[in-house]
Amino acid sequence: MKSKIKNGYFDKYGGAYVPEMLVHALREIESEFEKAKKDKKFQTEFQELLRSFSGRPTPLIYAKNLTKHFGGAKLYLKNEGANHTGAHKITHCIGQALIAKRLGKKELIAETGAGQHGVATATVAAKFGLKCKIFMGEVDIARQRPNVFWMEQLGAKVISVSSGSKTLKDAVNEALKYWMANSDESYYVIGSVLGPHPYPLMNRTFQSVIGQEIKKQIKQKEHKLPDFVIACVGGGSNAIGAFHEFIKNKKVRLIGVEAGGTGKKLGQNASRKENGSLGIFQGYKSLFLQTEEGHIAPTHSVAAGLDYPGMGPELAELYKNKKMELSSALDREAIEAFKLTTKHEGIIPALESAHALAHAYKVLPKLAHNKIVVVNISGRGDKDLFNVARSLNDKEFKKFLAEEIKRYEK
Ligand SMILES: Cc1ncc(COP(=O)(O)O)c(C=O)c1O
Repeated sequence: MKSKIKNGYFDKYGGAYVPEMLVHALREIESEFEKAKKDKKFQTEFQELLRSFSGRPTPLIYAKNLTKHFGGAKLYLKNEGANHTGAHKITHCIGQALIAKRLGKKELIAETGAGQHGVATATVAAKFGLKCKIFMGEVDIARQRPNVFWMEQLGAKVISVSSGSKTLKDAVNEALKYWMANSDESYYVIGSVLGPHPYPLMNRTFQSVIGQEIKKQIKQKEHKLPDFVIACVGGGSNAIGAFHEFIKNKKVRLIGVEAGGTGKKLGQNASRKENGSLGIFQGYKSLFLQTEEGHIAPTHSVAAGLDYPGMGPELAELYKNKKMELSSALDREAIEAFKLTTKHEGIIPALESAHALAHAYKVLPKLAHNKIVVVNISGRGDKDLFNVARSLNDKEFKKFLAEEIKRYEK
C-alpha cells in the first residue's frame, strides 16, 4: 500500500508548523506544484532537464566483484553519483527551480550540510538565471570547503551560520528566518523530504524517478524485482526516492541506514531509530533527536549529509507502519565500506552512501545466491577527499597539503 497523504500529513507525521508570515508562501508553492503535476509542458521540461542536463537515467551497475567477494546475494549499485553535480540532490533542485520560475521568483535560497544541495541549488540558479543565497553552518563550511568554493564560483553567496551547533539544523533556521522576510522575491529550495508541507511530498515526487528507474533497469537485467533496496537516511530524499516505487510490493524489503556515528549515546550519532522521539521542528512533525527537556540534541556523523536530528515525515510513517526497516552504520564501518567499494568496483561513493553500503556488506553474505540487493549510491565521494584522507591518516596527502600552502603563498 502506498503511504496516504492527507492535508500534508503522512499518518501523524508532517504538516506545516510555520509562523503566519509563511503560510501564504507555502500555499502559493503547493498550488503551483499541484498545477505543474498535471501540466504536460512542465513534465516534459522536467524530464528533458533530467535527461540532458543531469544525465539521467543513472546506471544500475551489477557489482560482480563484490558479489563474488561476499559469496552471497547478487549486489547491484544504483549510481546516483553519476548525476550532474555528483548526487541525487540536483533532481529536486531542478524540479523546485522550475516551480520558482513559474511563480516569477527572482532568487533561490537554500540550506546545506555536506554542500551537495548547496552546489546543486547554485547550479540550477546559474542555469535558470536566478540569484542565489546558500546558508551553511560554520562547522560544515570548515569540513566542506571545496563545495563552498564551487558555490561561490557558480555565483551564489554563501552565508556562514554561527548559531547553535553551527551545522545543518542551524542553517535551516537561518534560511527560514531570511525567507520570512523575503518570500515575495525568494523561493526556498529545501534540500530533502522535510520541512513544512508541501516540501516532503513535492521533493519525494521529484526523487521518485530513482526507484522508477531501478524497477525498469532490474527488470531488464534480472526479470524480477529486487529482494532488498538499501539507502542511507539523512533527511530521507534519496531513500524515499529509491523506495517509493516499491512500497506497494511487500516482498521488497526497504532498509534505511542512519548515521551510527561513534556510539549509541545521544550526541554520538544521528540515529532517530536509536534515540528519536516525536516532536515538531523546522516546520514539520516527525521523529527527532531530543534531550529530556525537549530541546533538539546535538548529532554526530562523519558524513555531513547525515548529521541532522530529524527525519522526513513520510519515512517516519513508513518506519512506524513497518513498511521500511531502519538500521545504522558506524563512522568506521562507513569508511571501511568506502574503501571496499572503491577498490573492488571502481566506484568512489560519498560517505553518506557508504553507510548504506556498510549495511549491505553485513547482510550480503547471509543471503542466498538467488537474492538481489540494490544499494542506492546517493552521491560520489569527490567532496569527501579531505575527510577521507584525514580519516585514513594519509601522510602523502598531508605532505601535499603543506606544499600546496607554500605554492599558494608564493
Ligand atoms: C551524497 C548525499 N547522500 C545523502 C545525503 C542525505 O540526504 P537525504 O537523506 O535527503 O538523501 C546527502 C545530504 O547532503 C548527500 O550529499
